[in-house]
Amino acid sequence: MRIGIVGTGHVGGTLARLFSKAGHEVVVANSRGPETLRGLTEELDGRVRAATVEEAARFGEVVVVSVPFGRHTEVPADPMSGKTVIDTGNYYPERDGHYPELDEGRTTSSELLQRHLGGARLVKTFNTMRWDHLREYGRQSSAMQRYGMPVSGDDVDAKRRVSALIEQVGFEPVDAGGLADGRRQQPGSPLYLADLTGGELHERLGAP
Ligand SMILES: NC(=O)c1ccc[n+]([C@@H]2O[C@H](COP(=O)([O-])OP(=O)(O)OC[C@H]3O[C@@H](n4cnc5c(N)ncnc54)[C@H](OP(=O)(O)O)[C@@H]3O)[C@@H](O)[C@H]2O)c1
Repeated sequence: MRIGIVGTGHVGGTLARLFSKAGHEVVVANSRGPETLRGLTEELDGRVRAATVEEAARFGEVVVVSVPFGRHTEVPADPMSGKTVIDTGNYYPERDGHYPELDEGRTTSSELLQRHLGGARLVKTFNTMRWDHLREYGRQSSAMQRYGMPVSGDDVDAKRRVSALIEQVGFEPVDAGGLADGRRQQPGSPLYLADLTGGELHERLGAP
C-alpha cells in the first residue's frame, strides 16, 4: 500500500520504519522540507522517500497525520479528501495552546482535525503508546499476547483498513467506537500510556 506520513518526528518516524519494514511504500514529510529527512531515508536504505507535505499527502492511499495538535490547521486538507487518515495526535495545552472547547470537554482533538480536513475519513490510533514502546512492542508480541491499539473513527471501511495495518506491525486493533468516543483514549484516560494487551483493552473499553 502507498502510505504518506505528514509529521515525521518520534511517532511519524517510528511508523515510517514499521510500515516500510512491513513492505509498504512510504513517503515522509515534515515542516522543514525533504532534505532535513535525509538521515531517516538513508537509514531505511531508499525504502522510504522524503517529499513535501503536499506530495506525501497526495501519494498516500492512507495518510498519517502526526504533528503537534497546535499545528493541525497547517496541514493541507485538499490532498486528503476522501482518503483514510490516521490521527496519532494528542492535545497538550502547555505545548499546543489552549482550546476552550477541548478544555471544557465539548469535543475532541480528533473531531477538530476531522473538521479541518473535511472529506477525509479519520481514524484515531497509535496515540496512546509512547513512541519508543511503539517501536519495540510490536515485534516483541506473540500470537497469544499482543499489545492492543484502540481504534476510533466514524468510517467503518477506514477503520478496517487501518486495523489491518495495525495487525501487520504486530499490534491488536481494538474497536473503540466513533470519533467522539476517542475521548476514551486521550491523555488522562485510563488507557493512555497504559500498554495494555488486546484482551485487557477490550475489557477496559467494554461496549463502545
Ligand atoms: N512522542 C510520543 O511518544 C507520542 C506518542 C503518541 C502520540 N503522540 C502525539 O503524536 C503527535 C506527534 O508527536 P511526536 O512526538 O512524533 O512529535 P515530534 O517528535 O515533535 O514531531 C512532530 C513532527 O511534526 C512535524 N510538523 C510540525 N508542524 C508541521 C506542519 N505544519 N506540517 C508538516 N509537519 C509538521 C515536525 O516537523 P519539523 O520538525 O520539520 O517541524 C515533526 O516532524 C503529537 O500530537 C503527540 O502528542 C506522541
